[in-house]
Amino acid sequence: MASLSFLLLLLLLAVSATFLPSSMAASPSFRTLDANAHFFNPKLPAKSFSSSKKFEGSSDFVNLRYHMGPVLSSSPINIYLVWYGKWSVSQKFLIKDFLLSISAPGPRRAPPSPSVAEWWQTVSLYTDQTGANVSRSVVIAGEHSDLHHSHGTDLTRLSIQQVIATAVRSAPFPVDHRNGMFLVLTSQDVTMQDFCRAVCGFHYFTFPSMVGYTLPYAWVGHSGKQCPEQCAYPFAVPAYMAGGGPGVLSPPNRDVALDGMISVIGHELAEVASNPLVNAWYAGEDPTAPTEIADLCEGLYGTGGGGGYIGQVMRDGEGRTFNVNGRNGRKFLLQWLWSPVLKACAGPNALD
Ligand SMILES: *[C@@H]1O[C@H](CO)[C@@H](O)[C@H](O)[C@H]1NC(C)=O
Repeated sequence: MASLSFLLLLLLLAVSATFLPSSMAASPSFRTLDANAHFFNPKLPAKSFSSSKKFEGSSDFVNLRYHMGPVLSSSPINIYLVWYGKWSVSQKFLIKDFLLSISAPGPRRAPPSPSVAEWWQTVSLYTDQTGANVSRSVVIAGEHSDLHHSHGTDLTRLSIQQVIATAVRSAPFPVDHRNGMFLVLTSQDVTMQDFCRAVCGFHYFTFPSMVGYTLPYAWVGHSGKQCPEQCAYPFAVPAYMAGGGPGVLSPPNRDVALDGMISVIGHELAEVASNPLVNAWYAGEDPTAPTEIADLCEGLYGTGGGGGYIGQVMRDGEGRTFNVNGRNGRKFLLQWLWSPVLKACAGPNALD
């Protein structure tokens, strides 16, 4: 897969995109995927707090290193989902369809390429010191609804562990040391320390003193009312910067906040799988502020991204933007991830 010419092409595309005049931003479609979808490469302002971490596709200076810790290699990865606050049935179905699209499907039920499962293949290139790869299989092993905000509507990095502890006690989730991780999703009325200002989601691990044992978890918030322009990028962009661009992209499932959240969930899952205890795969010398495999590619969704372009993505007959297919005919727009093989950001919708 890692051919030199492909790398060069990627580099060339990245470089040329950087210097394209903006009149070429809305380039005409030049390749059709099916009757209704075509490629385009919109230019949008970057999310303000992501730009410092962005390496725009490929760089010799990225020093992603392995720090000897485990990755989520046991199969399947069992996700224990906590719905904190009020979520509608259709919102839950949409997010669960995404999560269940990650596993490599049987050949007869495979969604068309490029798919979510192909997107996860980049994550499964990461291994631990025993040579075990990140699992290619992800299931929802349990769900808990915390309808009445058991720990209030203003959470912190520590109180999210109390939310997990409450879910563990009342669900009850089994102690799944081998395969388990928690995914906490908070509704739009919930504020979180640093939410909007610095993060749209994060991942860490639980402490025995709070939850009873150590397991990885991720949190992602619904940004709809608070900061869609930060956390539902690129379906909403910072208003003060939107002037010159082609405007905001149409989300694949017609839900700005949820479609934006799904890319953030993808980001966090990719990182929790490759760096679950924050001692496996990250760049930089500071483990308290690691730059991980999704941080390296924030804002990139296709070939030719960088310099304000998000990269070649698809638009269907109704104008909805996406770059991967999932189960039940769903489409999603997922950010690219750093490939340890290509030493560049990669995704299944790459034009090679
Ligand atoms: C496991 O990771 C190695 C190293 O990145 C890669 O060459 C191999 O293809 C991966 N295997 C699977 C099944 O993804």
